[in-house]
Amino acid sequence: MANREEPILIGALDIGSSKVSAIVCTLDEEGRPRVLGTGQRQSRGVKRGFVTDMEATEVAVREAVEQAERMSSQNIEDVWASYGAGGLSSDLATVEVEIGGHQVEPTDVEELLQSGREAVDRDGQVVLHANPALYTIDDVQGVRSPVGMHASRLGVDIHVIAADEAPLRNVDLTIRQAHLGVRAIVASPVAAALACLSPEERDLGVALVELGAEVTNVSLHAGGMLVGLRSIPIGAKDITDDIAAAFGVRRRDAERIKCFHGSAMTSPRDNHEVVEALPIGAEDGSEPLRISRAQLMTVIRQRVERTTAEVEAALKDMGFVKPVGGQVVLTGGGAELKNIADYMQGVLGRAVRVGRPRAITGLPDAHSGPAFSSLVGLALLASQGSGGDIRDLALPRSKPGPQATGMFSRLMTAIKGGR
Ligand SMILES: Nc1ncnc2c1ncn2[C@@H]1O[C@H](COP(=O)(O)OP(=O)(O)OP(=O)(O)O)[C@@H](O)[C@H]1O
Ligand SMILES: [Mg+2]
Repeated sequence: MANREEPILIGALDIGSSKVSAIVCTLDEEGRPRVLGTGQRQSRGVKRGFVTDMEATEVAVREAVEQAERMSSQNIEDVWASYGAGGLSSDLATVEVEIGGHQVEPTDVEELLQSGREAVDRDGQVVLHANPALYTIDDVQGVRSPVGMHASRLGVDIHVIAADEAPLRNVDLTIRQAHLGVRAIVASPVAAALACLSPEERDLGVALVELGAEVTNVSLHAGGMLVGLRSIPIGAKDITDDIAAAFGVRRRDAERIKCFHGSAMTSPRDNHEVVEALPIGAEDGSEPLRISRAQLMTVIRQRVERTTAEVEAALKDMGFVKPVGGQVVLTGGGAELKNIADYMQGVLGRAVRVGRPRAITGLPDAHSGPAFSSLVGLALLASQGSGGDIRDLALPRSKPGPQATGMFSRLMTAIKGGR
């Protein structure tokens, strides 16, 4: 049990399709997280980001958290957890109040936000984040801070991220069954963005592509917040499975081949290099298969091309088109595939870089790769508190259905000073 003399403890937990990772942090004098311990287990019972076998996942959660607790010699009571499966939605809710021409006071803003609390049915979705984005004064959009200005009407666009209720509850229940409290469940792209995008990038407009094991989350960030997201049920594990199926080797060998010999770019040397692996079911000592790198590349490229095409379609669908769209940042374990950023840069025709989580004190090397962006982002978010969220807020939807295309351009226009 924590007592007042003990340091503030933050627990973060990322339940992915391939791994469950946990981190225990404290805060330094400046309020920045300092890592005390980390833990990781192979994920079980998670498919495409959804918990499908609660008991199996619970064991992985318990073991990963216990490992982080042991390393830090601390016990945590609750965690900040990520949610990165499909079924996330992002939109803007607009609310407006009459001011009557006087100067806007902080209480007017509070009243405005309060009026956004009127509960509406979100059709089986749970609100994860509700951030006041940009204010509107009469017909002028894009006002960041309205206090002190004269207005007849004051409005605000509240950015809402919601998740389908059932899969979210399963994550919540799994964590609770592992005897941990749930402080907050955070949309994975929100956490990952905080860890591997600079504040300037998030302000100017950037796309973040998190290539996980079984899910690829594409999100747009502008004006310092997430303004659109799409989830694609394809990930780096699909490359492993393709290799295993194409050459008849075990998944474990296919994974090793992908990580050590795989690449997203072909090279003239590919015909001369050979990779060896035992066929499935082969006895020890039997003749290994000889796979040329060119054959391997054909298999990898097919999956990478398909994934990139889906990413491109998602970006277009959300309105991330030139000239407003900026660069693309790739993260998640799949971003470790050799030359993936170069390949995507060629196809997408815009700058692409690999994003690793920002260094936080005490983060071990083993947890500093792009696969840990969401985990590190959770710790950063937790260290900042709620970050302007309107907690427990149920907001009216302006229109049903995804509206991200309009939202991105609208925000970009507003941020850049247009109407
Ligand atoms: N060097 C590498 N080359 C190619 N792929 C890699 C490399 N290193 C790791 N990966 C892949 O990254 C994937 C794991 O990524 P990550 O840890 O982000 O997924 P996850 O969070 O468990 O799953 P998800 O977010 O999809 O639910 C694995 O499929 C792994 O094969
Ligand atoms: Mg993940």
